[in-house]
Amino acid sequence: MSDIIKISNYIKPFRKTIRIEGDKSLSIRWALMASQAKGKSTCYNLLKSEDIISTLNCLKKLGIKVKIKKDKCEIYGNGLNSFNLKEKITLDAGNSGTLARLLPGLLVHSKKKIIIKGDKSLSKRDFYRIVKPLEKFGASLKTKKGKLPMTIEGTKFPKPITYFEKKGSAQCKSCIMFAALNTKGTTTIKAKKSRDHSELLFKYLNLPIKVIKTKKHDIIKLNGKKKVRPFNYRIPSDISSSAFFIVLTVLSNKSSLVIKSVNINPTRIGILKILKKMNVNFIIKNTKVLNGEKIGDLHIFSSQSLRPINCPTNFNTAAIDEFLLIFLIAARANGISTFKNLSELNQKESPRLKWGSKLLNKIGIKNIITSDSIKIFGNPNLIVKKKIVIKDFDKDHRVFMTSVIAALTFGGNWKIYDKNSIKTSFPSFLRKIKDLGANIN
Ligand code: S3P
Repeated sequence: MSDIIKISNYIKPFRKTIRIEGDKSLSIRWALMASQAKGKSTCYNLLKSEDIISTLNCLKKLGIKVKIKKDKCEIYGNGLNSFNLKEKITLDAGNSGTLARLLPGLLVHSKKKIIIKGDKSLSKRDFYRIVKPLEKFGASLKTKKGKLPMTIEGTKFPKPITYFEKKGSAQCKSCIMFAALNTKGTTTIKAKKSRDHSELLFKYLNLPIKVIKTKKHDIIKLNGKKKVRPFNYRIPSDISSSAFFIVLTVLSNKSSLVIKSVNINPTRIGILKILKKMNVNFIIKNTKVLNGEKIGDLHIFSSQSLRPINCPTNFNTAAIDEFLLIFLIAARANGISTFKNLSELNQKESPRLKWGSKLLNKIGIKNIITSDSIKIFGNPNLIVKKKIVIKDFDKDHRVFMTSVIAALTFGGNWKIYDKNSIKTSFPSFLRKIKDLGANIN
C-alpha cells in the first residue's frame, strides 16, 4: 500500500466533538512503573501506538507478563528490580526516545549486560544525557559516541546521587527517578522545569518523593527501594495529539471543535498559553483530576486576527512537542513572531527547528532561523497555490501530521510521504481528520 498521501482541498467548516487517543508519556510511564509492582496492574485507554508496543515488547523480553485486552492492558510485575535477565538481551526501543531513555533507569541494578537499540532516527539522538547520571549511580554504559546502540550493565550496589538536570529534559529526569527507585538512600535531582508526569505518578503511588518548586527549577528528593503497589490507571487524551486538531480548528473557516477529557497538566499546556497570547479563541470546561493528572474538555473555535508573539522562553518545555504547529499559527499572524532558546527542538525525531523553517519556506512564509531560534514573518492573507512535496523527514510523525494540517488550511497541492509515521504516536490521526470531512487521497 502506498505510504504517500495527497491533499488539494481546504477542509470544509466543521462543528464536532471528538476524543483523542491516550497520552504517550503517561502510557509509557504506566507500563514501566507497573513492571516494578508486585502483582497485576491494569490500565484503561492505554495508547496503542508503536512506541507503546515497543515498550511492552521490551518488558516482555525482561520477563514481564503483559496481556492486551480489548479495552484494557494488564501487566504482571514481579516487584522492584526483578527483571528476568539473560546474557546479552537486546531491547529494541524502535522510534521511542522516552522508552530508550527511561527504561535504562530501571536497569541500574541489572546483573547482566543489556543492549538497547533503536530505529534510524532514534540512533541519531543523544544518550550522553542519561549515561552521565547512570554512571554516577555506579552502572557501566557504552554508547557509540553518545548514540545507540547502548550497552548497560548495572551495579550490585547502586549509590544514590545528587544531579543537576540542566536541559529541561523530562526523559532524563525520569530516567534518574527510575534509577533512584531501585537505589537505597535519597537521590536528589535539581531539574530545569519540564513535564512532571513521573513526579505525579510517584506521588499517586505514595512513593516517598518530595518536590520543592523554585521559579526555574524543581528539587526532587526520592527515597528508593520502597515497594510499588500494583495499581489501576486510566490514561487521559494526549494534549500533543490534540494539538493537531486545535490548530486545524483555529486555522479553518467557521469551525469549532470539542475535544473531551484531555490531559491539561500545567507542564504540558505551553501551546494553550502561547495560543492565548496569539489571540486564539478557546475555553476549557469540566476540569477535574484523574489519577493525579488534571484533565478537561477543550472547546476550540476558528480564530481571525491572530497576533504575533515574542514567545516567552519559559513556555518552551511545556510546548516542546508542539512548536511545528505553533509556527503555523505564527505564519497566519499579523506581524513578526520570534521563538528563542529552542536548540532542544533539533534533538527530536528529526531536527524539528530546521523542519519548521523548511515547512514555512514551502508555503512561502519568510523566516530567519539560527541554531536555536526562529523569526517568522506572518501573513494573515496567505493563500498557497503551488505544488508542495514533503519527504525525507526521518519519518518524524509530527512533521507528517503538521504538514497535513498546513495542507488543509493554507491551500496548495500537497504530496506528503511516510504516512505510516503516524503509527508512532497517533495511529487514528488520518481517520479522525477524514471524519471531520477532510478530503485526503
Ligand atoms: C517526553 C519528554 C520530551 C518530549 C517527548 C516525551 C517524556 O522529551 O519531547 O516527546 O515523555 O518525558 P525531552 O524530555 O527530551 O525534552
